[in-house]
Amino acid sequence: MSDRIEKFVEAMHIQPHERILEIGCGHGVAASLICEKLATGHYVGIDRSPKMVAAATKRNAAFVSAGLATFVVATLESYDPGQARFDKVLAMRVRLFHDRPEEAGRLAERWLAPGGKLFVQYDEPGGG
Ligand SMILES: C[S@@+](CC[C@H](N)C(=O)[O-])C[C@H]1O[C@@H](n2cnc3c(N)ncnc32)[C@H](O)[C@@H]1O
Repeated sequence: MSDRIEKFVEAMHIQPHERILEIGCGHGVAASLICEKLATGHYVGIDRSPKMVAAATKRNAAFVSAGLATFVVATLESYDPGQARFDKVLAMRVRLFHDRPEEAGRLAERWLAPGGKLFVQYDEPGGG
């Protein structure tokens, strides 16, 4: 388990009822930690890579079966959540937040419910 991801998720103070969206969910490591904290809430993980979505779905199969988690192949730029809005949106190591932070932030904030919060972390993998 990644200490980096664990600390990030802890800092989000996830509540059992919250609706959470992760952009660039990768292998679904944060997803597992988040879903453990949910009861009536829901987690959606998107990633532009079908391979990553397949890996995240497999890793979190129990949460998906329980209706707590959904994984979708989609990009930050093109994701369409319909009417759904989220209490917390997170993105870790998704490059657009480093290269064009204002644009990435604006795209992600479209999906926040009123009073919702965006959580972003970017560092170069292996670079500290
Ligand atoms: C470096 S990995 C980080 C994975 C995980 N969030 C973590 O912190 O370990 C970046 C992930 O974001 C995805 N990604 C990058 N840009 C994206 C975008 N614009 N929209 C959706 N997914 C994106 C990649 O496919 C990859 O799975």
